[in-house]
Amino acid sequence: MDNEDKENKKDGIISRRYFLESIGVGAIGVAVAGSIALTGEYLSPNVLKEPPTKFKAGLPENYSPGSTTLNKEQKVYIMRAKEGYFYALSAVCTHLGCITNWKSEEGIIACPCHGSKFNTEGKKIAGPAPRPLQRFLMTLDEHGQLVVDKSIIVGEEVILKASINKG
Ligand code: FES
Repeated sequence: MDNEDKENKKDGIISRRYFLESIGVGAIGVAVAGSIALTGEYLSPNVLKEPPTKFKAGLPENYSPGSTTLNKEQKVYIMRAKEGYFYALSAVCTHLGCITNWKSEEGIIACPCHGSKFNTEGKKIAGPAPRPLQRFLMTLDEHGQLVVDKSIIVGEEVILKASINKG
């Protein structure tokens, strides 16, 4: 602390001039930091960061025949038919976009919002939903893992036959 500072803070009392100078320096600092932050934001690319549309759903043997498994994060049902083949259904209701639930005791997919119901093929069986649940392309990657691509909507005839590794 130099002599001027000591004088300014004599007996714990800050002089009016010292106080105003301090506020001025602080305000300039805030303004500079703000303009740096805004410039950085302006210069960074204005890219919409959307989650990837493709995701891995694990190995086919993780799903038993006749099972419906909801991937909550992706909002997709991994369906494995009794015959063993796979398909992926969107869990998003085609009425107003609520997330549906699997009702195992009834064997249906039901929307909690306005009562739409869908069978395991995704076809509407009740309620106001105007269309069946969307079906997404499902493939196997080079390691034999199931991969769902939510950017590719396929018809109800599209299924994935995956051979199961039995060790
Ligand atoms: S959002 Fe599903 S029935 Fe309305």
